[in-house]
Amino acid sequence: MSTQTLASVTPSLLDRRNDFPILNQTVRGQRLVYLDNGATTQKPAVVIDAEKQFYEASNANIHRGVHWLSQHATDLYDASRVVVQQFLHAQRPEEIVFTSGTTDSINLVAATWGRKHIQAGDEILLTMLEHHSNIVPWQLLAEEKGATIKVVPILDNGDLDLDAYHRLLSERTKFVGIAHVSNALGTVNPIRAMIAAAHKVGATVLIDGAQAVAHETVDVQALDCDFYVFSGHKIFGPTGTGVLYGKYELLDAMPPWKGGGDMIYTVSFSGSTYAPVPQRFEAGTPNIAGVIVLAEALKYVQEVGLEAIAAHEQELLRYATQQLEALPGIQIIGKAAHKAAVISFMVDDIHPHDLGTILDMDGVAIRAGHHCAMPLMTELGIPGTARASFAFYNNYDDIDALIASLKKAQQLFGVSA
Ligand code: ALA
Repeated sequence: MSTQTLASVTPSLLDRRNDFPILNQTVRGQRLVYLDNGATTQKPAVVIDAEKQFYEASNANIHRGVHWLSQHATDLYDASRVVVQQFLHAQRPEEIVFTSGTTDSINLVAATWGRKHIQAGDEILLTMLEHHSNIVPWQLLAEEKGATIKVVPILDNGDLDLDAYHRLLSERTKFVGIAHVSNALGTVNPIRAMIAAAHKVGATVLIDGAQAVAHETVDVQALDCDFYVFSGHKIFGPTGTGVLYGKYELLDAMPPWKGGGDMIYTVSFSGSTYAPVPQRFEAGTPNIAGVIVLAEALKYVQEVGLEAIAAHEQELLRYATQQLEALPGIQIIGKAAHKAAVISFMVDDIHPHDLGTILDMDGVAIRAGHHCAMPLMTELGIPGTARASFAFYNNYDDIDALIASLKKAQQLFGVSA
């Protein structure tokens, strides 16, 4: 057994748990053990305070007012774009479009880039690990255009079958959509090499980074992806915020999607002309507070340090995997060579929903079900899994509480060894 401890791996993170007020509360009379970070992350006090401060001191509509407050709010909003640009290592701020989340970002790309570039007979290549949000928008587009969806299968351990990926790529492949990290199995995909291979056949690549950005540094220029998307709420920021990164020349050539104020240059009843990117894709009053607060969340993550976060979470993954494997009747679903701190599992023949409900009685919050990845669950021949997903504020105590609660569930169902 390893003598490694969280204190030896990441001493600087141990007090960070106190930055998150919600983690100090009890749930059903028990200490809250929050292991549903893949669904959404909790918010540090600096993020909560920033939201309050915005409405107390800076609230006004942006890009419209001549008054001081509007200009102040506009400055804060525009500064957030630069924070995101730097966070993703994008070349210029115009490559960052604010959306309501990952789903919105992918729908935007499908409805604009997709409608313009996908034709009948073209192939759209997705992977078996995709979330519904990176499947359904492409199905809608494929139906509209007469294009075909192809799917990269997985190996038994939850890794993508890369030989199959290379075989599926051809000059018919116009678009490739890949999850950076699988929300259901935790598989970290080798996206850099996959992007390079897709570019060799002339395909455009979108990376769904929803489960990645809070756990490792992302450099869109080094990756050379065409689009990269993520949600604010999965990286300690507010719900209803999201990001679409796109290479400038791609975004600039894309037609508008949602029409309304702020995305136009001129409007007349005989026709309208459109604003340059990124305003072209931000019709109407955006989530001003959300975007400004998202920047605070990203600054917070950078201050904590993504390298320290990754090391801490890998130690949590190691410890949790070891503890789960020591329990009889547990099957871990997804043992990819390179995993993020997400563990999907089945316990004997207890339905994942029953398990989630029983764990909840002990204050242990996990997700149970198909994880918005129904094709993957069908492929695995299971209705769903129980899933513990970690953030850097989790610790060994959380894992011990999970294991203790699982043992109780097994006793309750009479399946303990
Ligand atoms: N996509 C989120 C999850 O995996 C909701 O739980």
